[in-house]
Amino acid sequence: MKILAFGGSNSKKSINKTLAGFTASQIQSENTEVLDLNNYEVAIFSIDREKESGIPSLIIDFYEKLQESDLIVISLAEHNGSYSAAFKNIIDWTSRHRSDFFKDKKLFLLSTSTGPRGGKSVMETAISRFPRHGAEIIESFSLPSFGQNFDEKTGILSEDLASEFKSKIQNIKKLYGLETE
Ligand SMILES: Cc1cc2nc3c(=O)[nH]c(=O)nc-3n(C[C@H](O)[C@H](O)[C@H](O)COP(=O)(O)O)c2cc1C
Repeated sequence: MKILAFGGSNSKKSINKTLAGFTASQIQSENTEVLDLNNYEVAIFSIDREKESGIPSLIIDFYEKLQESDLIVISLAEHNGSYSAAFKNIIDWTSRHRSDFFKDKKLFLLSTSTGPRGGKSVMETAISRFPRHGAEIIESFSLPSFGQNFDEKTGILSEDLASEFKSKIQNIKKLYGLETE
């Protein structure tokens, strides 16, 4: 199986990209790509731009990446209660290419933030919206207060959160017939 993981952020030190990559590595060590949204940056969506120049080729590349994967791991950054502008822009363009851009795709949806809600608002938005684009959200997990609860080497530090996360990883592994602990 092929896993595509990314953070819904264009921050160079994105905590969501870190969490998405860590999550993918807990499912399997090989055949995983951690994508950086900075490599898919395009001008802000406008209907006039679309009429003038069509869909940017980077967006078609992004769409193809989604299609090639068996599992998509996205960790969403929350900006003012919703998607980051970088993520929303890519999604808006991609939806103009194919509105069912997540068709038949299984998603492990995560979010984290520096605050105590861990991006729960953006998570709620995505959970209600992504299925309209064809996604099947097989698991979701929000990690609050990333700075206190995550370490690059150890992973999730809080025992309760680590155990909740681990059981979700195990469920996904079972679903894909991967060896579980
Ligand atoms: C413009 C802006 C708005 C933000 N709004 C929220 C918010 O609504 N909720 C939240 O928990 N954190 C918010 N934050 C803090 C982000 O969660 C924090 O910057 C986090 O590192 C973003 O994830 P990233 O590192 O993956 O980009 C905001 C940050 C910025 C820059």
